[in-house]
Amino acid sequence: MDELSRRRMLITGGALGALGLLGAASPAQARSLWTWAPSGSVAGAGAGLDPDWVWDEEADPVLAAVIDRGDVPRVNELLRQWTRNDQPLPDGLPRDLRDFMEKARQLPSWTDKRKLEAAARFTTKKGIYTGALYGLGSGLMSTAIPREARAVYYSKGGADMKDRIAKTAQLGYDIGALDAYQPQGSMVVTTVKTRLVHAAVRHLLPKSPGWSRTSGGQKIPISQADVMVTWHSLATFVMRKLKDWRVPVSSAESDGYLHVWQVTAHMLGVLDEYIPASWDEANAQSKQVLDPILASTPEGAELTDVLLDIVAELDAGLTRPLINAFSRYTVGDRVGDCIGLDKEPFWQPLISAAWPLLVAFREGLIPLPLVPEAAWTVEEAIRRFVLLFLAEGRRIELTIPDTNRPS
Ligand code: HEM
Repeated sequence: MDELSRRRMLITGGALGALGLLGAASPAQARSLWTWAPSGSVAGAGAGLDPDWVWDEEADPVLAAVIDRGDVPRVNELLRQWTRNDQPLPDGLPRDLRDFMEKARQLPSWTDKRKLEAAARFTTKKGIYTGALYGLGSGLMSTAIPREARAVYYSKGGADMKDRIAKTAQLGYDIGALDAYQPQGSMVVTTVKTRLVHAAVRHLLPKSPGWSRTSGGQKIPISQADVMVTWHSLATFVMRKLKDWRVPVSSAESDGYLHVWQVTAHMLGVLDEYIPASWDEANAQSKQVLDPILASTPEGAELTDVLLDIVAELDAGLTRPLINAFSRYTVGDRVGDCIGLDKEPFWQPLISAAWPLLVAFREGLIPLPLVPEAAWTVEEAIRRFVLLFLAEGRRIELTIPDTNRPS
């Protein structure tokens, strides 16, 4: 761990420790009672069980068996060749895994091709906003989601967090690709592989002493509720911010963007009865599952450092103060404080004043002279950040872990 991370961990750890909120001493989870009704889901009906007690009953036993038989290295080697949605599964996969994957790779019956196309057009047009929001907004927010931060920290990928964060970020970008769920695209492959990785983590993490000590009583990680928390930190958050920023979004684009994320949730193994059917339903669910659980953890603080280091290393002209200020503007003060983002008295007021004007100008709503000069520094830096972050994300392979982070 480098000096900065250690310092940040000590600061966060110290503050949390003083409040009695650390590790084993922490309360189970500040979750409210599950009342979100399945009538608001894409299924329109369901048993209404609290998704915190639901995992992935199709994938989990298969991956547990694959790991216990010692098949992971062979499976990873074979799955390297599987990269396109329309490609047959490689020969030689264990029978149980192949059967599961053949089923898991099918798009849901309610997939609407026209909506997926609208989503792709939307991302093409609004890529600068969604890119900045995924990279600096959702990415940073994930470090304030305690269960996600801890699962990531104590799993195998936690040993190389930079690589780990880049991989998850890639999913946010791939989802916006023109051909994401088309035959020549790769989102089916990415989501099915991610579902395998999550199922493997559910088998492995309960054996990690670090995770068990800090899981707040959760015995198996990555419940369906947890997956929806992360989903909201991506989809619901991005749509809400676009509205806050007054980016014009047509109803076809908004429906399309929701749809591509609904399909993605299904492909990640979320039951249809937990997938919101509308943005209103998504906002209501987000309020119930995401808002109450955002909090600081030492693991999250370390992840924040790694993420900010990646941004700084990209050298897109974003200085650390500018990153801090733009991120705070994006995630808000509550998350900003949680993850220890510095306050920037120079940049913060400038960004809050200039960004809305910049958006309005980019969208053809106001003439150029109304945009302050300094806004272009911010815009250029964000644009380069999005381009570089995107390019950086391209060379990534998803592999099933067979151990936890070495302690
Ligand atoms: C792995 C995406 C929810 C914990 C991954 C990977 C992706 C991904 C793309 C593969 C990256 C890699 O191999 O390193 C997502 C998406 C989610 C989601 C899109 C929800 C919409 C969650 C949640 C948790 C979680 C809720 C924990 C509470 C993990 C862990 C790994 C992983 C521990 C494996 C890390 C490793 O050992 O390499 N996820 N994830 N994910 N995810 Fe998720």
